[in-house]
Amino acid sequence: MDATKKNLVNNDFSDIMLNRHSYRKFKKDVKISNEEISEMLEEAISAPSACNLQSWHFVVCNTPEAKEKAHSVMMPFNYPQVDSASTVIFILGDTQSHYKYRDVWNKAAENGQITVEERDKVFKTFLPLYEHADRSFLEKDATLDGSMVAMQLLLLARAHGYEANPMSGYFFDKVASTFDLDSDRFIPVTAIAIGKPDEEYTKSVRYSVKEVTDFI
Ligand SMILES: Cc1cc2nc3c(=O)[nH]c(=O)nc-3n(C[C@H](O)[C@H](O)[C@H](O)COP(=O)(O)O)c2cc1C
Repeated sequence: MDATKKNLVNNDFSDIMLNRHSYRKFKKDVKISNEEISEMLEEAISAPSACNLQSWHFVVCNTPEAKEKAHSVMMPFNYPQVDSASTVIFILGDTQSHYKYRDVWNKAAENGQITVEERDKVFKTFLPLYEHADRSFLEKDATLDGSMVAMQLLLLARAHGYEANPMSGYFFDKVASTFDLDSDRFIPVTAIAIGKPDEEYTKSVRYSVKEVTDFI
């Protein structure tokens, strides 16, 4: 994908990143097509991931019925966003992404992007890390991958002319099962409400770089 060919509504990086704020009330009559959401996701999955495992999974709640399901797993303080957003996208981490890991590298070898020897080296180096990993390692990796792609999606929402709010205030144990996903395999990372804002943003305060940084 050549990003420069993208027809984004906003392609101004500093505006997209530095003027991003969480919005929590959206115009209810705005629809975002599944095609545009797919485009945003295609752009978002350019995110990096540990060993290129791409341990993410998306559940797009873009119909009244699906949004009702999203509402049912949320903590009440997130109802305004969920109920007014054009769409709510849940990002889950896939703790079993290594089961299909070979597919990606087989494809790269078939495409001639890497040699068969290089592919086998990847299998030997990385797969054992995951095949012998404990649950917390797999959850951590899946959460990191999911967070990377979530951040991209937050920025892409702006690039497409929308605003967004990340939300992890949901009943964690209800999320996967509500969306008919295997809750052993998929763990919620965050959900993103996207739409056209119907409020002024409140600029949030940050600690200074000095407070949060050690130059060693
Ligand atoms: C992991 C995570 C979980 C969050 N969960 C919620 C949430 O459940 N509800 C909400 O209104 N905002 C949520 N937020 C948004 C934060 O409150 C917000 O990013 C922070 O206050 C900074 O404000 P800003 O996004 O406008 O810069 C979450 C943000 C992150 C990164």
